[in-house]
Amino acid sequence: MSKNLIKIFDTTLRDGEQSPGASMNTEEKIQIALQLQKLGVDVIEAGFAAASPGDFDAIRRISEQIDKSTVCSLARCVEKDIKAAAESIASAKYRRVHVFLATSPIHMEYKLKMKPSEVIKRAVEAVQYAKSFTDDVEFSCEDAGRSEISFLKEVLDAVINAGALTLNIPDTVGYRLPNEIGARIKELSDFVNGRAVISVHNHNDLGLAVANSLAAIENGARQVECTINGLGERAGNAALEEIVMNIKTRQDIFAPLYTNINTKEIYPTSKLVSLITGIEPQPNKAIVGKNAFAHESGIHQDGVLKNKETYEIIQPSDIGLDRNNLVLGKHSGRHAFKDRLQSLGYTLKDEEVNEAFEKFKLLADRKKEIFDDDLRALVAEEITKIPQIFELITLQLSDCNPGGVPNAAITIRHHDQLITDAAIGNGTMDAVFKVIDRVCGVGGELKDYKVDAVSQGKDALAKVIVKVAFDGGKPIIGHGLNVDTMYATAQAYIGALNSYMSMKQV
Ligand code: KIV
Ligand code: ZN
Repeated sequence: MSKNLIKIFDTTLRDGEQSPGASMNTEEKIQIALQLQKLGVDVIEAGFAAASPGDFDAIRRISEQIDKSTVCSLARCVEKDIKAAAESIASAKYRRVHVFLATSPIHMEYKLKMKPSEVIKRAVEAVQYAKSFTDDVEFSCEDAGRSEISFLKEVLDAVINAGALTLNIPDTVGYRLPNEIGARIKELSDFVNGRAVISVHNHNDLGLAVANSLAAIENGARQVECTINGLGERAGNAALEEIVMNIKTRQDIFAPLYTNINTKEIYPTSKLVSLITGIEPQPNKAIVGKNAFAHESGIHQDGVLKNKETYEIIQPSDIGLDRNNLVLGKHSGRHAFKDRLQSLGYTLKDEEVNEAFEKFKLLADRKKEIFDDDLRALVAEEITKIPQIFELITLQLSDCNPGGVPNAAITIRHHDQLITDAAIGNGTMDAVFKVIDRVCGVGGELKDYKVDAVSQGKDALAKVIVKVAFDGGKPIIGHGLNVDTMYATAQAYIGALNSYMSMKQV
């Protein structure tokens, strides 16, 4: 590995999935992993195998399909976790087991109830055990940000001797300032002296995750752990797109350091993650926010027209954002449709193009102009499709007047059988959920509901995201996409149910 390469370790599928409400199903995780590989990330942390059979299965299936990036699986320093992590990535071409143990006084005393000497012993045993499955083992000192530097050195020395090749120094609670991180990484990097790669993993509790990651890079870190759109526990992790674009834009500072990221895949990756998780970056978010390249004031617009560089330090095309946004409509043929998908960076299989084209045609009958974001949403629906155990066929709603009796009649296909039923509710949405519960024989509890217009216009596509808990379990995401909001709502609810059924079958 070149000493100037900054390895990008993406943890969207693990720490990112720990964002409240960001859980994804296996098909969605596979599509994100494939896109991360296209983006050029060096390591994809695919999950925490011991967490559940569903998590294990998702990592296993990702490992079967990823052959350029390293696939990494996280484990506590516990034998059964490490075994599950190693087995989940067994079929990956390049695989890494990542073990972690807390090293801060507060975590050791209250959470682990372990003495520092016991922590070192456990860390060494875990690394040695992980090494029996793969050479590529990473060790993380959880809460390193609040750990004593002298103790960190002892731990690092011990795990290097046990065979760890990457040493991660997470600021788990996002406590440190950039100058502090810089100084700590410099001291640890000098101490390690090339015996292993120093990695950082910064959380954003004080809004400093990216600044801290850059400070670490300037002081010897050669791997950064980050997520798309900065997703992650609480205030999130360091945003991949911001770290990468800083390194690229400020080569006057960072050269000869570089990353393997193809920056033109940043926008498509960000879009895919937000479509799947339903978590849109804030509009003013750097690099991928909706307003990141919007110039509102006349003076700025005038400047940009005369010379883009007056107010733009990054070109939208650098991150794969095409401003032309060609509009398709009902007269656009399969060829124009496929061309547009290709220029948006999608390489779909023929049957996927055909199915997406059918959906495009249906949409074009009801929506005059179809924008790039509509196409992205259509394709995301297509590629993350899960088996349709229950399929929505028709939905009819009536009487939404004040004082009326809202009711919903529905036809659902289940194993080649069409089932029709109707229910009344406190509102049309309540009636829709009730009738679906009755037809499908479940009782879902709606935890969250969100609707967004995908593009512009009164006839915009509605993208509905629901989070539903079945049998008192963890909320499951369902997506619906239609010009009719209530139809999209029913699709989303049934989608969550299908996801739940597929996970139960694992
Ligand atoms: O924030 C953290 O400390 C982590 C570790 C598991 C790497 O996510
Ligand atoms: Zn973390």
